[in-house]
Amino acid sequence: IRIYVPRDAAAVAAGADAVAHRIEAEARQRNQPVRIIRNGSRGLLWLEPMVEIDTAAGRIAYGPVVPEDVPGLFEAGWLEGATHALCHGPTDDIPYLRRQERLTFARVGIIDPLDLDDYAAHGGWLGLRNALDMRAEDIVECVTASGLRGRGGAAFPTGIKWKTVLTSPADRKYIVCNADEGDSGTFSDRMLMEGDPCALIEGMAIAALAVGATQGYIYVRSEYPHAIATLKHAIARAQTAGWLGADIQGSGRHFDLEVRSGAGAYICGEETSLLESLEGKRGVIRPKPPLPAIQGLFGKPTVVNNVISLATVPAILARGAAWYRDFGVGRSHGTLPFQLAGNIRCGGLVEKAFGLTLRELLEDFGGGSASGRPLRAVQVGGPLGAYLPESQWDVPLDYEAYQKISAMIGHGGIVAFDETVDMARMAHYAMEFCAVESCGKCTPCRIGSTRGMEVIERIAAGGPQRETQVHLLRDLCDTMIGGSLCALGGMTPFPVMSALEHFPEDFGLEPSRAA
Ligand code: NAI
Ligand code: SF4
Repeated sequence: IRIYVPRDAAAVAAGADAVAHRIEAEARQRNQPVRIIRNGSRGLLWLEPMVEIDTAAGRIAYGPVVPEDVPGLFEAGWLEGATHALCHGPTDDIPYLRRQERLTFARVGIIDPLDLDDYAAHGGWLGLRNALDMRAEDIVECVTASGLRGRGGAAFPTGIKWKTVLTSPADRKYIVCNADEGDSGTFSDRMLMEGDPCALIEGMAIAALAVGATQGYIYVRSEYPHAIATLKHAIARAQTAGWLGADIQGSGRHFDLEVRSGAGAYICGEETSLLESLEGKRGVIRPKPPLPAIQGLFGKPTVVNNVISLATVPAILARGAAWYRDFGVGRSHGTLPFQLAGNIRCGGLVEKAFGLTLRELLEDFGGGSASGRPLRAVQVGGPLGAYLPESQWDVPLDYEAYQKISAMIGHGGIVAFDETVDMARMAHYAMEFCAVESCGKCTPCRIGSTRGMEVIERIAAGGPQRETQVHLLRDLCDTMIGGSLCALGGMTPFPVMSALEHFPEDFGLEPSRAA
């Protein structure tokens, strides 16, 4: 009997290793032959560690399981899928999962991430096999036609980026995966790397064929040791199996892949800083142009893509551009793995086609706040994303619709706050975050963020000068938006201004005066 116990860092943090050991010991004692498979997480984080038993009727979920529950679960007959207080029935029937459209995350939580046969049995390598028979231009065209846009947050069309690299002549080109997932409340890159690393490897190999690159690097933040270890194992196995290296599946094509670890700077998630860091230098922004697609790593044309963008490519190459393009709304094609975090009852990963609303995510999936109090503000798109009040929760999650309300979907991180939140403090925190993480290259960000903290402190302190300080804050935000060299300084004003705009009472202002 196969028993699945996730190896994902979130499950391990909740005690999955101890649960796996206890199951093993208990099964031995009872003479029950079981095989424990350490899978990725299904993304139902409030149920972790979520253990699944592979029964004749399919996989049955139990969670959250602590080691002390294990003897009782054996007693109750969980190996036959018996009901128990911790049983949630067939995993695929859990509404949170059933209502999703898992394209990029199709295998995460289902397969053993380090078992290449399991990967192949679930559609792995089909995209790369197809790409090996295609001309580079046709691979690029397929990705362009799919409508895939950069999932790191900026939503730039992936195919167009690849075309720039393909058409930039050079003796050497690189594929760099940006896995420096630094946005607050985000974890989809991590879950993918830990739960289905071969999807990323395959996507990078396809990108290499598309642009003529021979070397790739995955730049992973150092806070992700489990992801780093899993990727290194998976790369070694893919090499042994001939999916990487000098002669991919006998095609004569060559692609090598290595993992590099960051050193904890948020700014190294910005592509040019990341390239500086990869070259062994301090992570400071490089002015653009030149674009990395033309002069990137070591001055050579370089594809820099986020984990989710690259891991989505194999399915597009396997099933066709039209299949992927049909998901979503407007110019936002396909799906996005949204990540529900903060004060939310059912936090986790929800992959859905663009076009659903924040309210659906918060209520239908998230089940409201964890505290039981009404939700009040939601930050979408990481620490540089706007705070949305309830009046905006019915706007469809679509890149353009969000841009119209001065918000952004970004990397899909959603952090919920209940009615006890103090939005003036959150605005102050946005400026503080910018001050701490600024690379220091340009003045509006380096100095402006510290001045911004001071101005917000003066507004919160009240008094007759409050109105002047609000004007000053608006001016400062304008300067940061217009004068910063990169998104850190240039987007920090969005959470600040949205807090002031939608929650003026927290700054001691009348609602009408801030609107
Ligand atoms: P950007 O709009 O400057 O560039 C987007 C991408 O398109 C870059 O890779 C750029 O090199 C490329 N590009 C632009 N024109 C091109 C052309 N003609 N040919 C080829 N490539 C071209 O945005 P940026 O500054 O790279 O990213 C900002 C975004 O990053 C924000 O919107 C935010 O959502 C996101 N972000 C994500 C974080 C995370 O943890 N995932 C953390 C912080 C920010
Ligand atoms: Fe550096 Fe901030 Fe300027 Fe970006 S905006 S280049 S992080 S100082």
